[in-house]
Amino acid sequence: MKRLHAAGLAVLIIPVLIGAALPRAGSPDDTVSFASDVSPLLQKYCLPCHADENHNPSELSLDSYELMMKGGKHGDVVKTGEPDESTIIQKLSENPPFGDRMPLHSKRKKSPTPPTYLTDDEVKLLAKWVSQGAQNN
Ligand code: HEC
Repeated sequence: MKRLHAAGLAVLIIPVLIGAALPRAGSPDDTVSFASDVSPLLQKYCLPCHADENHNPSELSLDSYELMMKGGKHGDVVKTGEPDESTIIQKLSENPPFGDRMPLHSKRKKSPTPPTYLTDDEVKLLAKWVSQGAQNN
């Protein structure tokens, strides 16, 4: 009788424990964060060139939110709320409005590896950040 009781309790408790351990799906807060989403992408793909104390092509530094918002040779790179109008997004597409697709790949050096462009999801994430107001969040 005692054994049966313990087994019954386990049947009740185990699903509760498993449920608590599972990550909560569908978080309602899908705000893109500059610090934890955007900045790591810039660091990975852009800072090898667009860093204040690096080559800094087109006078565009992407090391911080403030520097990014200063823009480059062609002016602002972020048009708040309008990813399609923002050069920071346009330059990631196959046919940018001027110059080359970013991250730039040296045409002179014959690299055996194909260029590493951002994935569609990564570009979408950046675009979402711009459309959500390009906040320093
Ligand atoms: C290998 C070096 C290199 C890397 C890496 C690189 N860029 Fe560039 N970038 C350049 C050069 C050179 C130019 C100027 C020529 C041109 O516009 O194509 C430029 C220009 C730009 C401009 C135009 C700025 C202006 O006002 O004229 C933007 C925007 C830009 N890059 C964004 C990015 C982003 C975003 C990344 C990362 C995803 C990135 N770049 C990675 C070399 C690089």
